[in-house]
Amino acid sequence: MKVELLSGALGAEITGINLCDTSANNIKIIKDLLWEHKVIFFREQDISHQEQIDFAKCFGPIEHHAYVKGLPNHPEILRIVKEPYEKNNWGENWHSDVSYNSKPTQAVILKSVEIPPIGGDTMFANMELAWETLDEKLKNQIIDKKALHSSLGMSFFVDNYAGMEAKKVDIDEYSNEHPIVRTHPETKKKILYVNWTYTKKIIGLSKKESDELLMKIFKHQERLELTCRFKWTKNAVAIWDNRSVIHYAIADYFPNRGLGHRRIMDRVAIKGDKPF
Ligand code: SIN
Repeated sequence: MKVELLSGALGAEITGINLCDTSANNIKIIKDLLWEHKVIFFREQDISHQEQIDFAKCFGPIEHHAYVKGLPNHPEILRIVKEPYEKNNWGENWHSDVSYNSKPTQAVILKSVEIPPIGGDTMFANMELAWETLDEKLKNQIIDKKALHSSLGMSFFVDNYAGMEAKKVDIDEYSNEHPIVRTHPETKKKILYVNWTYTKKIIGLSKKESDELLMKIFKHQERLELTCRFKWTKNAVAIWDNRSVIHYAIADYFPNRGLGHRRIMDRVAIKGDKPF
């Protein structure tokens, strides 16, 4: 096995591991790598839909997305599609997946199916480091506070993405409160758990106080020193620990560069626990 670090902050590209080997020993090696590096990448993984699902199940039960339909024969797989003419990309701002749920996603297994020749990288930022490096005064202001996360409704997930199909839903918007500083259930490390896309308010503060404080925290957690960036190739797989990172699918599709190409990713998410 070879482990190549992607940046000084997080992320590692791994070679010499078989993702179809679901033995307890192999899964333990992969989980240990994931807890350590927060996001891990594997290239040239021509695995089937079922193999991707079976691998994901080794981490826990599969989570179905609240708003977007899965593939007809494999509903566990949410296909992220950017059509050639689209400039935008699903997940194109800093976020932690479904942080608006009461039990947000534990981890995601994302496989690239079709990749533009240039553009469409994904960035990740390390929220354990974000907490460790946060100003002490800010730490004291948020350590015992909770924040409200909101899903922003169905249209946010489907209206701007021609290739993404909506589910029928009874509730349009989900909201939940979570501790701003959560504890990783495996490593017991503290994690800064807010994100620009879904975190709307700090509970117990006025709107003005909350907006000002959140802006400072967002600015800190998005600092480039805390990030890594992955350039996709076809059949690459990323696994991220959705509790300890935020991520950003970069929609840099401009004329005569990345625009004019389709980008397709298959995403399987694993259910998480209630943040504490
Ligand atoms: C996501 O935000 O889950 C999508 C990431 C990507 O397509 O790179």
